[in-house]
Amino acid sequence: MNKALSIFIGVLISTSAFAQGDPNLGIIPAPVSITRASGNFILDKTTLLINQSVDGAKSADLLNAFIVNKAGFALRESKLPQPNQKSILLTSAGADKLPAEGYTIKVSPTQIVITGKGAGLFYGVESAMQMIPEKIGEKITIPAVMINDYPRFGYRGAMLDVCRHYFPVSFIKKYIDQLAYYKINTFHWHLTDDQGWRLEIKKYPKLTQIGSTRPGTIIGNYPGNGNYLTEVKGFYTQDEAKDIVKYAAERYITVIPEIELPGHASAAIAAYPELSTFPNRDTFISDKTPWAGARKGKLVQQTWGVFDDIFTPTDNTFTFLENVLDEVIAIFPSKYIHIGGDEAPKTYWKESPFCQALMKEKGLKDEHELQSYFIQRIEKYVNGKGRSIIGWDEILEGGLAPNATVMSWRGEAGGIAAAQQNHDVIMTPGSMGLYIDHKQSNSPDEPVTIGGFAPYQKIYAYDPIPKVLTADQRKYIKGVQANMWTEYIKTPEKAENHAFPRLLALSEIAWSPVERKDLKNFSEERLPKHLARLDKMNINLWVPTPIGQSDKPLTGGDFTIDLKVPITGGKIYYSLDGSRPSENAFLYTSPIKVTVPQGEKRVLTTIVVAPSGKRSVTTKTILDNGAPAEKAEAKK
Ligand code: ACM
Repeated sequence: MNKALSIFIGVLISTSAFAQGDPNLGIIPAPVSITRASGNFILDKTTLLINQSVDGAKSADLLNAFIVNKAGFALRESKLPQPNQKSILLTSAGADKLPAEGYTIKVSPTQIVITGKGAGLFYGVESAMQMIPEKIGEKITIPAVMINDYPRFGYRGAMLDVCRHYFPVSFIKKYIDQLAYYKINTFHWHLTDDQGWRLEIKKYPKLTQIGSTRPGTIIGNYPGNGNYLTEVKGFYTQDEAKDIVKYAAERYITVIPEIELPGHASAAIAAYPELSTFPNRDTFISDKTPWAGARKGKLVQQTWGVFDDIFTPTDNTFTFLENVLDEVIAIFPSKYIHIGGDEAPKTYWKESPFCQALMKEKGLKDEHELQSYFIQRIEKYVNGKGRSIIGWDEILEGGLAPNATVMSWRGEAGGIAAAQQNHDVIMTPGSMGLYIDHKQSNSPDEPVTIGGFAPYQKIYAYDPIPKVLTADQRKYIKGVQANMWTEYIKTPEKAENHAFPRLLALSEIAWSPVERKDLKNFSEERLPKHLARLDKMNINLWVPTPIGQSDKPLTGGDFTIDLKVPITGGKIYYSLDGSRPSENAFLYTSPIKVTVPQGEKRVLTTIVVAPSGKRSVTTKTILDNGAPAEKAEAKK
């Protein structure tokens, strides 16, 4: 847990700083600058909504729908101002001078002017929606301000793995809505892997007839202790994928498809075994996971990990991949196509006489160079179609493809090396909290996860630009991304639980200038309101634990426990006797004083209940007053 948040027990926090209001006006991600002006804009039924922007009709409708929801009335829409009429004006006039995706909001007592075009105007409207306070009587009072805003990074991404588990189109759209609300502009869609191929490819129907279904899945954490023996299946038709691309584009989100090669290819190989380096070998099932399925033939994997069976670099495989990529490129208009490249063991290539002969013929000194040859051949094809590739940082090994962008996941080293070679980089290091399949707290109540520890504060603390890079090299860091792998995430509800609030922290590190980062303001002022919004929208967020509670033991005799509720409208319940608190336990209303006699301990256990009834995990703090008096005396 971040230091600034960790222990406030025993210390009374002054609330005076908050009485002056939130300097970020509740907006996530924090804008570049907000300057207060004098007076207020009073929004009421008479306010006119004027759209004079080139492409803002949707944004105007979005804003009006929001006002209907918030205020219970719609604004009259118009193309032209009317004399002496208070108005909200959406305009593109002057937007060309703003940075890419930038916008301004000027609130004066007579008018709110939102300036931007395309994504900029959309983001301006979203910020406006976030800063509009609650209605009092028939009016909403909005403080006069000038907001100037634009993103730190052009690439602000979230990856969803739909291979380990399939997620329906309806969920993907719901997810995209939230990405857009937090100005995350890239949805990286991990569509193919060992445990499932999830995109219809018309030329190769077996990819989905065979590759999109696995008969079972290991139970529990790898290696597990059995097999659920229930089918996990599903794929997206090309029409569905196109519909998602369109839906995302309407929200200024680019969808980047990922087609994994040369490794993580078991599902494709199960469908077309000739793509394998050893087509006649059975899928290897480790003795560690004897329950992971049949042992005969090529299979869609039922367990997790990395598998030796990978694509063979024959002309037949390249023709297959090029044909697949042709269809992928026709569905996804994104500049980038992600080609995977991670975790491709070289064991089979070492053993294969064909691969060894190919290496000799091409003058490749090892299997890493063979992988580089593989990726470069694919890159050339993709470049020929006017697109660029992104690959996981293993594509550095054996030599980077000339135009590739590197996605740095094994820490920052790959990203640093790529930037030093003048290659574009997306930072997504698992060790820095960007793997949102990791657990969010140390509570034993956490569900089964892949492991790791990535509370939202860890993401918030991360700066995607490594300090070791020179000023020139830093410009190659194009952005940052959070990844949700779904081995242990079977349902949309659990995916939401992993995503929120962490995607809100991602949004801020991807958009806001480093100088504007303020964990205390984020956690205590803005996040609680946003979490209440998500809660109300029936999004199964992870309810944070009480602000100010340590999960480390505290020592002493007299404690003042000062906590804050992390979600607006939520409640903290607690016990001091080790029992599990529920709504029948003590309700926390103000700082509590606890006196622990010498030599004794108390256990403070808390739970947060959101307005919807969703619960946080329990958090325990041991209040420890050392050894009994006589033992302490004897020690002297
Ligand atoms: C990865 O986590 N294998 C990119």
